[in-house]
Amino acid sequence: MTSSIVIFNFAFIKENVAMQESIRIRQILQLCQPETVIADIGADHGYTSAALLEAGLAEKVIATDISEHSLKKAKSLFAEKRFGIRAECRIGDGINVLRPGEAQGIIISGMGGHLILRILRACPETVQQCKWLVISPQSNVDIVRRELQNMQLRIIWEDVVWEDKKYYSLLKLQPGKPESYTEAELYTGKENLMVDRKRFLHHMQYLAQRQEQILQKASSSRNAATIAELLEIYRSAGEKGERT
Ligand SMILES: C[S@@+](CC[C@H](N)C(=O)[O-])C[C@H]1O[C@@H](n2cnc3c(N)ncnc32)[C@H](O)[C@@H]1O
Repeated sequence: MTSSIVIFNFAFIKENVAMQESIRIRQILQLCQPETVIADIGADHGYTSAALLEAGLAEKVIATDISEHSLKKAKSLFAEKRFGIRAECRIGDGINVLRPGEAQGIIISGMGGHLILRILRACPETVQQCKWLVISPQSNVDIVRRELQNMQLRIIWEDVVWEDKKYYSLLKLQPGKPESYTEAELYTGKENLMVDRKRFLHHMQYLAQRQEQILQKASSSRNAATIAELLEIYRSAGEKGERT
């Protein structure tokens, strides 16, 4: 049902999208679908918004930020690119600056998981009236997956991107009944929803390696037990690739 949308978009995104050469932004765009209006919440420099317009994914973008200073960077980028009324800037907290139904797509990237959850919870009507959201929590992805189960938001795709020596998780959501997750899946994501299985397996192997290092340094046995449990979750998810 949803897979056709993503495959279509892989082809849709132009090769020459500027987006300041960020692989992360390129992958965010690959999860988006063409809409009349897409909102970029916490736009900061405005690179994602600019890339959306340049890729032809949005007729108009609404770039928002809580910080006037941040949004100034976006404003000057849009002026330089002569986007005119196709790029609107709004200062404010999260999705509050949007009217319900105004944006068909909403992107929230580059913030911690708890902040993204707070932003989503603050405006249920606007969230439920959009067609899709792409979120990229920089932390606590397991908590985000857990909480989404209580928010009438369904994860339809997941991806990860390696940039600046870090993995970033990308989740595409749609309003609707969420699927239930096992405890392990809250940490790994559901394998059948991964855009790229190879990237998923590399990510799991990376997380297992990190847990191993943390385990070596763990001081209390209580901590060690929790870390070892996580290590096992990532290790068995990462080993799937070797078995098939
Ligand atoms: C690290 S930047 C991410 C920029 C861009 N979205 C990206 O992924 O590259 C985070 C931005 O979110 C903004 N921000 C933080 N809290 C916010 C909120 N509650 N509502 C809107 N923007 C917020 C910050 O001012 C900052 O410009």
